[in-house]
Amino acid sequence: MIFIKKKKIKKNISFLVSGRGSNFMAVAREIEKGNINAQIKIVISDKENAPVLKKSEKMGIESVFINPKLFNSREAHEREILDILFKNETDLVVAAGYMRLLTPVFIEPFKNRIINIHPSLLPAFPGKDAQSQAIAKGVKITGCTCHFIDEGVDTGPIIMQAAIKIHQNDTVNSLSQKILTEEHKILAKSIKLFCDDKLLIQNKKVFIKPTV
Ligand code: GRF
Repeated sequence: MIFIKKKKIKKNISFLVSGRGSNFMAVAREIEKGNINAQIKIVISDKENAPVLKKSEKMGIESVFINPKLFNSREAHEREILDILFKNETDLVVAAGYMRLLTPVFIEPFKNRIINIHPSLLPAFPGKDAQSQAIAKGVKITGCTCHFIDEGVDTGPIIMQAAIKIHQNDTVNSLSQKILTEEHKILAKSIKLFCDDKLLIQNKKVFIKPTV
């Protein structure tokens, strides 16, 4: 008897990024190495001078700036982006340092298919400046969270987290750097799980399917 091993179809990933793009680069490198069963279709930014755009272009990935100022509502801007995502047959959207809140217009068609990376152990310190919030509160442990985006601010189902100790001489910068190193790891791992169809969401909780 001959067994034919079916090759799994690669997932199409599109990125939303507003700035530097170190998380994007970390994932792109893992994909290049063949560690994630995916291809990056496009990088979309809401900032014309976002450093990520040069980095992704250099890697030969289509990269576009969609100017929010050209639209008369957040939803209209999102519809334009949705159009691009659909044309690119996007399976997964990764918001990696995307500094805009998404409305239901965007979230609905990509329900449980938008991943975000946040620099705190959610549900602690949602929203902006999570690292400063942690230092200001004097917590001793913080970290980062990779989660699906829902209609709330950083409230969606949690895929993976990593913890970091805060030392008393840590600054926002030193802490952000330590968290960032972990962000890169859990974002790549979470995306890999998604691409291998290993994530299951039940009652707003994410379960990882065991390997058979
Ligand atoms: C990261 O700290 C991420 O958690 C937050 O924005 C930052 C983006 O960094 N959402 P980069 O652009 O991926 O380098």
